[in-house]
Amino acid sequence: MKVYNIAIFASGDGSNAQKIIEYFKGSSTIKVVLVVCNKPTANVLNRAKNENIPSLLISRADFYESNRVTEQLHSYNIDFVILAGFLWLIPQNLITAFPDKIINIHPALLPAYGGKGMYGMNVHEAVIAAREKESGITIHLVNEKYDEGKIIEQHRCSISETDTPQTLAQNIHQLEHRYFPAAIERFIQNNSNGI
Ligand code: GAR
Repeated sequence: MKVYNIAIFASGDGSNAQKIIEYFKGSSTIKVVLVVCNKPTANVLNRAKNENIPSLLISRADFYESNRVTEQLHSYNIDFVILAGFLWLIPQNLITAFPDKIINIHPALLPAYGGKGMYGMNVHEAVIAAREKESGITIHLVNEKYDEGKIIEQHRCSISETDTPQTLAQNIHQLEHRYFPAAIERFIQNNSNGI
């Protein structure tokens, strides 16, 4: 049986990366084999170490001025790339190397509250400032523009009068932890023909 290897890209705490790693520990067909990070102080690097998963720390030059990252992904036989709180725009060479095989999670209901600069707390602050009644998460394919790839799944939560950006962030994280790993699994099961 073919085993699908995934690489998780993350820039920060990595709570989503942790949930994904834990979820696929029990899988015989999907394995998390690499964590890619662009920030030396990011907690996700500690998480990878604790889980005995190799990590790759990348620079801007590696990412935007060379093929080094794509070559590394090929050397780990990566089939799918998962962006879990990764904040750099994905360059065209990576998209070409992994067509329709890069999945991102965004902490709002795209197309609203997406695009450059819309990440993490910035998103939740904008949603609360606009007095929205609901927010949610979007799991989508990645193309060369921020947050514009095909939507795979969305999940919603309501916002009350007393919510703050911080409480909304907590609620969004809960949705992400609950839905993202299984959404990745479903997507890979349904889109692995020909690999
Ligand atoms: C998550 O909420 C994710 O949706 C968001 O960063 C957070 C990372 O949390 N991603 C973006 O804003 C991408 N535009 P984590 O490090 O605890 O997984």
